[in-house]
Amino acid sequence: MSETSGNWFIRNHAKVERNATLLLGLSLVTVAIGGVVELAPLFYLENTIEKVDGMRPYSPLELAGRNVYIREGCYNCHSQMIRPFRDEVERYGHYSLAAESMYDRPFQWGSKRTGPDLARVGGRYSNEWHVAHLINPRDVVPESIMPPYSWLMSRELDPGLIVNQMQANAVLGVPYDAAMIENAAADFAVQVDPEGDSEGLLARYPKAVIADFDGQPDKLTEMDALVAYLQMLGTLVDFSTYDPVANTR
Ligand code: HEC
Repeated sequence: MSETSGNWFIRNHAKVERNATLLLGLSLVTVAIGGVVELAPLFYLENTIEKVDGMRPYSPLELAGRNVYIREGCYNCHSQMIRPFRDEVERYGHYSLAAESMYDRPFQWGSKRTGPDLARVGGRYSNEWHVAHLINPRDVVPESIMPPYSWLMSRELDPGLIVNQMQANAVLGVPYDAAMIENAAADFAVQVDPEGDSEGLLARYPKAVIADFDGQPDKLTEMDALVAYLQMLGTLVDFSTYDPVANTR
């Protein structure tokens, strides 16, 4: 086609394609328009995190379990974000809210699902099931390709370290108060002792699951922590008081 024929767009497009500087300039303008369209509305919303009841910081044991989760790379096969689509909601439960990961640093959303999404796995299985599954997944799910994590049963936790980590989280805005930090080591032990006095722990961390998770009463292990974390996932928000419509205003 000669440059003088065809419509105006096709003639001028040829000019743009032959001039690298012009092409670059116009590409930047196009991308900038897209950026403004995506970003500008966020500045006019009062809050991008929904108002919900029930979210609280992780208990010391759950936080330690979360560390194990990240260290072992569970996120390589498991996401923690239920998308707002019917098939996902029917399989996993209410779609994830931004509020549910507001204390996560780093968040564990992910998109790789070699295994199922874990955002609401809390309460779905017994503690014994989780322990057996983590020691050897094939003992409870014969066709599983998940790797075993049996060493978590023998690795003991150091309650001293978690205090530092809670303090670091507090600096970043997680509302750990003085009482939570002061009681960290005690709360650690109380969460794995069903016979203990758990009143303080439950006042600080409502709904915390208390159990001798790994079945070894004399030891506080990484298995205890990881199962405490898994059993809490997705259980905190009170959906009976959550109003999605009010949250869009
Ligand atoms: C190589 C990929 C892979 C890794 C890494 C992995 N998993 Fe899995 N996981 C799977 C698969 C596949 C399944 C489904 C089969 C089964 O239940 O074992 C699964 C299932 C699960 C389930 C049951 C979920 C449900 O709703 O039925 C839990 C809980 C779980 N994994 C936790 C973990 C934790 C915790 C870690 C890290 C310590 C981890 N997984 C690491 C692949 C993986």
